[in-house]
Amino acid sequence: MKFESLRGFRDIYPEDAEPRDRMLSEIKKVARSFGYQIIDFPSVEPLDLYRIKSGEELVSQTFSFTDKGGREVTLIPEATPSVVRMLTSKKDLPKPVRWFSLPKIWRYEEPQSGRLREHVQFNADIFGLDTPEADAEIVGLACTILDSLGLAGNYEIRINHRKLMDEILRALGVVDIPRVFGIIDRFRKIDRQEFMNSLGEAGVSQDSARIIEKLASSRVKADDSAGLIQSLMEMNNDLRESLERVVSTIRMISYYTSSEIVMDFSTVRGLSYYTGLVFEAFDIRGELRAILGGGRYNGLSSLISDQDIPAIGFGMGDVVLELLLKRTNLWHKDISGNRYYVCTVSDDAASFSLKLSIDLRKKGADVIRDMGKRSLSAQLRSASVNGCSYAIILGTKEVSTGSITIRNMSDGRQEAISIEEFLSSIKK
Ligand code: HAM
Repeated sequence: MKFESLRGFRDIYPEDAEPRDRMLSEIKKVARSFGYQIIDFPSVEPLDLYRIKSGEELVSQTFSFTDKGGREVTLIPEATPSVVRMLTSKKDLPKPVRWFSLPKIWRYEEPQSGRLREHVQFNADIFGLDTPEADAEIVGLACTILDSLGLAGNYEIRINHRKLMDEILRALGVVDIPRVFGIIDRFRKIDRQEFMNSLGEAGVSQDSARIIEKLASSRVKADDSAGLIQSLMEMNNDLRESLERVVSTIRMISYYTSSEIVMDFSTVRGLSYYTGLVFEAFDIRGELRAILGGGRYNGLSSLISDQDIPAIGFGMGDVVLELLLKRTNLWHKDISGNRYYVCTVSDDAASFSLKLSIDLRKKGADVIRDMGKRSLSAQLRSASVNGCSYAIILGTKEVSTGSITIRNMSDGRQEAISIEEFLSSIKK
């Protein structure tokens, strides 16, 4: 019988697992540079935690089952409810709280480019602040991460505001606002006729549907947002507060990045708990699924506890990021600079090579020690396969003279130097 991994799941071999691990380390480094601290939580949770406010679509995508104790449980389809549960179970946490996590997430979706049934999702959230500064910091963190991965200029941030959209839809006489949000969320995935029909079926008048369609297709660059705000305010003065907040947030985000920030009225987000700013990042060519998505979700904590804590955050999966980094040739960055392959070519050099490998690692170098008692050419082949920039060759001559022979793997040049000189040239 032959076994393969399930559809939508991945086996990740070193050629991708290594770059992926470097990517995740860089993401964690940037999060820490903003003062965010790592947390972790279970991979299995009560299904009810997601029934509360994640929305029907997400609940229908869960890998859920009844456990041996008769409880309805699920592999987590997102992190946010677990993070909020952790936050609210510790009443005395000094606010604001800045947390990040890197859980595995499971969703029974149709596997396609950028979407799998299992992925790793970086999450960052800030709790206890409800200000444009906090909104901008979260989007700014997302941008700084993408920029530090080398993606500046390769993505755009699409921003909208749930409350603003809510007010606009109300002014247009829309009654079933959650349903219409669901339709707007699919705006870019369905054709115009299907969009208009769905709005009609949701009880939206033809005139209002036309305005919603026009709004959903309009994209306004950050610099031009003032004019749009003016014209929307002329439509309804109640929109002023939400609009002014979005504009001041966008202004602050532009301090963090030079990448494109656009006001996009079709960005409403699929999850039901968002209450304020919502945002997504897309590759600039518009070929891939969302790189990341998030928003403000002030009401969630009071649904699962007696505390009311404002919150904003985002989630970013590893799947689209990998596609984008591969497309921009940033996936396989050269990392072999400090990596050595220690070749032992005679039995009497065995303890010398063992000790040297240990000393080198203490100095911060990556060292692979060949233990195969093989020919030098076989050992050098392994050095090359493992992406080492230098091979260190040790035999009877090196043992007797206290030296090493070092070979540059890129041009094959070799030289003999004393062990002391070599070790002192390695910087920690
Ligand atoms: P989400 O938009 O459902 O938001 O997912 C966030 C990101 O996770 C997506 O933009 C994408 O990068 C990745 N992602 C989602 N589903 C898949 C999939 N099937 N395969 C690969 N990647 C995927 C949330 O989950 C919110 N809980 C984010 C959040 C945190 N909001 C506030 N704090």
